[in-house]
Amino acid sequence: MSTIFVTRAIPGDALERLRERGHEVDVWPGVLPPDPGSLGTALAGADAALTMVVDRVSREMLEAAPKLRIVANMAVGYDNVDPAVAASLGVWVTNTPGVLAETTADFAFALLMAAARNVVASDRDTRSGGWKTWSPTGFLGTDVHGATLGIVGLGEIGLAMARRAGGFGMRVIYTSRTRKPEQEAALGIEYVALERLLAEADFVSLHTPLTTVTRGLMGAPQFELMKQSAILINTSRGQVVDQDALAAAIESGEIGGAGLDVTDPEPLPLSHPLYTFPNVIITPHIASASLATRSKMALMAATNILEVLEGREPVNPVNRPERVRGPGSLDT
Ligand code: GLV
Repeated sequence: MSTIFVTRAIPGDALERLRERGHEVDVWPGVLPPDPGSLGTALAGADAALTMVVDRVSREMLEAAPKLRIVANMAVGYDNVDPAVAASLGVWVTNTPGVLAETTADFAFALLMAAARNVVASDRDTRSGGWKTWSPTGFLGTDVHGATLGIVGLGEIGLAMARRAGGFGMRVIYTSRTRKPEQEAALGIEYVALERLLAEADFVSLHTPLTTVTRGLMGAPQFELMKQSAILINTSRGQVVDQDALAAAIESGEIGGAGLDVTDPEPLPLSHPLYTFPNVIITPHIASASLATRSKMALMAATNILEVLEGREPVNPVNRPERVRGPGSLDT
């Protein structure tokens, strides 16, 4: 029997799957994540961990967890744990690719539509008694159909976004680490350099992982290149955007608005100036939050754990330990 630490209550039947194999499953009871001390203590006694994007797993925690064999992230991103460090210590890191792309793109598109057409600002206004009459000039927004969407990062989610944009009659341009000629032909999208994308797009939607290259990718010089009417959508990671520069660009009217599902830090403190702008929508990192998708993500993370605990390779590894910890290995 192994001990599995799960950092939060999760949807679906993933916990049941783990328990029915006879493992001891220890679920953190809080609504808030375990603090670093509690996380470290729990990992120190665990054979496996099922973690969320907000659970920062440090080198020190991994070093102090002699039995730990896998950190299974319930997310496609894994910037909360260093896969190379984990590999060097014999710990697998896994993620949940594939299952959340469509759901995340649904949400990114919802943010795009909401920001373009003042859905949130006008709802707020009606609730506070602002709806006096039909107004020919009230809440004039930006058309989505016929507009140009600039996708930064053409991975699974960026592609799902491009498909949605096609349905709305948008022109789609993209920039990405690798050019994707097949997708260009299939979806009628065009590869451009970031600078051109920023200059031409009416909507800029970020779909990159957080890496040393993408951290701070969108800062003052990039906002300067964007159209004054353009709207920034971020469902990737808050750190991809320089938030102070974004607030300044919104305040000065350098860009037209933003829809942010991710911020830095999360939650964004209520004192942050971004909350003061009616043309900025901020949601609490919920792009993958449909019951079906979150349940699939939980099950995928659980499956990765079971594979490793049963001596096999995980299904969705993002690293490859040279010497895997486990019964009979050099490290036990
Ligand atoms: C969510 O942010 C994820 O990476 O899945």
